[in-house]
Amino acid sequence: MEKHIEAHNVERPFVVWMTGYSSSGKTTIANGLRRKLSDIGIRSEVLDGDIVRRDISNDLGFSHTDRIENIRRVANVAADKLNQGVVVIVSLISPYNEGRLLAKEICGSDRFIETFIHSPIDVCESRDVKNLYKKARKGLIENFTGISDIYQEPQNPDVVIPTNTLTVDESVGMLFDFVVNRIGIGGLCS
Ligand code: ADX
Repeated sequence: MEKHIEAHNVERPFVVWMTGYSSSGKTTIANGLRRKLSDIGIRSEVLDGDIVRRDISNDLGFSHTDRIENIRRVANVAADKLNQGVVVIVSLISPYNEGRLLAKEICGSDRFIETFIHSPIDVCESRDVKNLYKKARKGLIENFTGISDIYQEPQNPDVVIPTNTLTVDESVGMLFDFVVNRIGIGGLCS
């Protein structure tokens, strides 16, 4: 029989803001983290780039301005959820320092965990989970991050997950440990 675990909000919620190249592992880690948190009774929600771009950002492309606007919208949704006590997990390429800084301002710097999902671009390109690098190389996709648009690595991230040297389970486990430590003993709402 499935065990029912009550879901709790946390006393001091925060956003785990994951940045990294396409195919670096953001979505997989986001979903894995949410599941592990749920297993120990912590409520969290995922805001994922591919989903928000079908939903609240479906009018946006990948120009500099549109990416910043995408990040602004996601950060505002995240801030609302934080105010309701929910841990938020964001997985967006969020390639520019400017955009991540904006997100941090909107969410609140003390509630923002900048998480660098780090894999070298050639490793991400060789994974090419969605076959997009191949298309970008052929010139079929404009402004593709790492190929025809820049990715500014975070200068001072709170956590770095090196997905090229860790397995998926190890990557999720490393971030989970960091998050649980951040919540602290007695950090759940009753
Ligand atoms: S962000 O730059 O605005 O943060 P976001 O994470 O929402 O990007 O969306 C990235 C996803 O959009 C990628 O995983 C990929 O599936 C798709 N995509 C389509 N065109 C591009 C592009 N030019 N650059 C990067 N990703 C793209």
